[in-house]
Amino acid sequence: MTSTDRAFDHLDGTLSATEVRRAHADMREACPVVHSDRHGGFDYLTRYENVRGALTDPASFSSADGVKIPTSALRPRVPALEFDDPEHAQWRRVLDGPLTPRAVKALEPVITAVVDLLIDDFAAAGTADLVDQLAEPLPAIVIGRMIGLDQGEAVRARGIAAALYAAMGSVAFPARYAEFHETTQRWLADRRERPREDLLTEMASGVVQGKVIDEAGATGLLLAYIVGGHHSTGSALGGLIRHVLTLPGLRDELRADRRGLPRVIEESLRLTTPLQLFARTLRCPVQVGDRELPEGERVLLDLAAANRDPREFRDPETFDRARTRNRHVAFGAGAHVCQGQHLARAELRIALGRLLDRLPDLRLDGDPVESGLVGGSLMTHYALPVSFTPEGAP
Ligand code: HEM
Repeated sequence: MTSTDRAFDHLDGTLSATEVRRAHADMREACPVVHSDRHGGFDYLTRYENVRGALTDPASFSSADGVKIPTSALRPRVPALEFDDPEHAQWRRVLDGPLTPRAVKALEPVITAVVDLLIDDFAAAGTADLVDQLAEPLPAIVIGRMIGLDQGEAVRARGIAAALYAAMGSVAFPARYAEFHETTQRWLADRRERPREDLLTEMASGVVQGKVIDEAGATGLLLAYIVGGHHSTGSALGGLIRHVLTLPGLRDELRADRRGLPRVIEESLRLTTPLQLFARTLRCPVQVGDRELPEGERVLLDLAAANRDPREFRDPETFDRARTRNRHVAFGAGAHVCQGQHLARAELRIALGRLLDRLPDLRLDGDPVESGLVGGSLMTHYALPVSFTPEGAP
């Protein structure tokens, strides 16, 4: 079998989660570089060493042609994510304001209040779907609050962002993008007329953190915050809840002592890898394993395969709640490492913590429903049915 035969189609939405995981593992074990003829031709890098090597060498592995395969020219480039230095570093400074550890710490009471409001909605029912009722709305509402949207508008934005993400790489994308663009322009026009003390007003003013931002820049920033931070965190939270409710004794262990939670979160992120595939374009020839890849070649970095590489992780398929060496790449690595990682970790810690505080006998009640690859990169849950003793029951 040639390496080309092993390449799976990351845009084939009919593949189940199990089939996608098997494809990642098959490619990784077959050879370091797996070629695909699809979508104009590209190479998958799947081994930890090669994926981390590419992530930490942005001068050779450029993000400026987009981090999706195929590239979409129909929208502005996403700030920071789809730029190389020096513009990349400038965009990171612009984006960083609400995402620094200190800003996230200050946002924690808001996150806790949003989590509690969402749990209030189902706590007396005894059953819930924790994807629809917690994992998906939470990040959308938190990001909405961060940029200045009220809860209702943030929930509507969630639907638009979800449709946009799911349409990536498909013919439906232009229509979904038009919808996103129209909505964000409405927000910005509103802030020009009625300025407030919020990030949207800053974006509408045309200068954010000292950088002049045109209309495409403002739309791009909103793409980075809303699309970047929504499903990714929703997927991570769904994965975390499922792991905690499935692994024997883990829920009760964490209820009794939260000190193990940070390691559990990192291990869950490693095994879930919410955003699995990011592209690069070679700016010079690069040797990977026994292949020399030419300048101009497009590559797809398979973070999910890397995060289960036995060359880096001992017993990689096992959820090890005490794993000490866990240099996973679920948030990427190097210059483009996720700017929202502190926010995502805070949401995961607070959401799980409040669930364990308020619904101590929370358990799965039916089969979780996993997606395949959505939009060519996201792996998530569509449903997580749970049951519990209703809050306040005698
Ligand atoms: C568990 C949740 C999340 C995961 C798994 C995740 C994953 C990632 C990954 C893998 C990258 C690197 C992409 C690359 O190297 O091309 C990245 C970059 C980025 N993420 Fe996240 N992300 C999450 C949450 C968030 C949140 C909450 C936000 C903001 C609200 C956010 C904003 C960004 C931005 C702006 C970048 C680009 C950084 C740069 O290019 O310098 N992410 N994310």
